[in-house]
Amino acid sequence: MSPSLLVTGGTGTLGGLVVPLLRAAGHDVRVLSRHPRESSAGVEHVAADLLTGDGVERAVAGAGTVLHLAGGPKGDDRATANLVRAATGAGVRHLVLISVIGADRVPLGYFRAKLGAEEAVAGSGLPWTTLRAAQFHDLVLTVARKMAALPVLPAPGGLRFQPVDARDVADRLVELVLGAPAGRVRDLAGPAVHGMDEILRDYLRATGRRRPLLPVRIPGAAGRAYRAGDNLNVDTADRGRRTWEDFLAERLGAVVG
Ligand SMILES: NC(=O)c1ccc[n+]([C@@H]2O[C@H](COP(=O)([O-])OP(=O)(O)OC[C@H]3O[C@@H](n4cnc5c(N)ncnc54)[C@H](OP(=O)(O)O)[C@@H]3O)[C@@H](O)[C@H]2O)c1
Repeated sequence: MSPSLLVTGGTGTLGGLVVPLLRAAGHDVRVLSRHPRESSAGVEHVAADLLTGDGVERAVAGAGTVLHLAGGPKGDDRATANLVRAATGAGVRHLVLISVIGADRVPLGYFRAKLGAEEAVAGSGLPWTTLRAAQFHDLVLTVARKMAALPVLPAPGGLRFQPVDARDVADRLVELVLGAPAGRVRDLAGPAVHGMDEILRDYLRATGRRRPLLPVRIPGAAGRAYRAGDNLNVDTADRGRRTWEDFLAERLGAVVG
């Protein structure tokens, strides 16, 4: 019998953490992605493209619960609408979505598309749960790494993150997937707020490099939103356990802070 739990994007950073947790909790899982891997015990991989809709109906058939993690820089609203259409046809009983803190406030395409995805899920008529998370440590590290490749590091003034560990997000999602549909749940952010300049200095120190930081200003509406902290939730979010400093030390084998 094929698994009734479908995880879209189960091969990504977050999905790669969630799928083993679901397996450890005793569930067989079907994973949807464009480039599937070999199926293994309890994990069936299926190929589908949520942006074009190719293969999606087949992948969703028989699923009782869908955890929607697949995403990219563009088109998450369209991809989610395609998933919702297939999930409605398949009689899915619980649709769980990962979104991002600030989806309704930061005027950038990625955030707008995430808001569109939230609306597609909430308006689907299916029982649903949506969790907004802050930026993952992995993403912040990738940004720091790219910037540190430059001879002078641009440090956008007022840009702050509340980075959360993807393992903490994965733990929370498993609770939500195995629980009853709950609508929009409390956001999940990391334990502390860090300025981009601080993140860059931490990264340089941890990698034993010296580079000058050049203060820059993010222009336009997006800059204003970031300086206002619209990508943060310092008041009402749940907080992950694992810190940015510990994550860096773990990844780079160096003590920071
Ligand atoms: N990273 C963050 O800081 C952060 C913060 C908040 C929320 N989120 C959200 O969390 C989710 C997971 O993030 P992540 O960092 O784990 O992403 P990721 O590592 O880039 O993984 C994305 C996953 O989606 C699949 N995918 C991408 N486009 C697809 C398509 N058109 N059709 C089917 N599958 C597709 C990818 O597999 P294939 O390439 O093989 O298709 C992969 O499994 C995303 O929705 C993201 O927006 C991320």
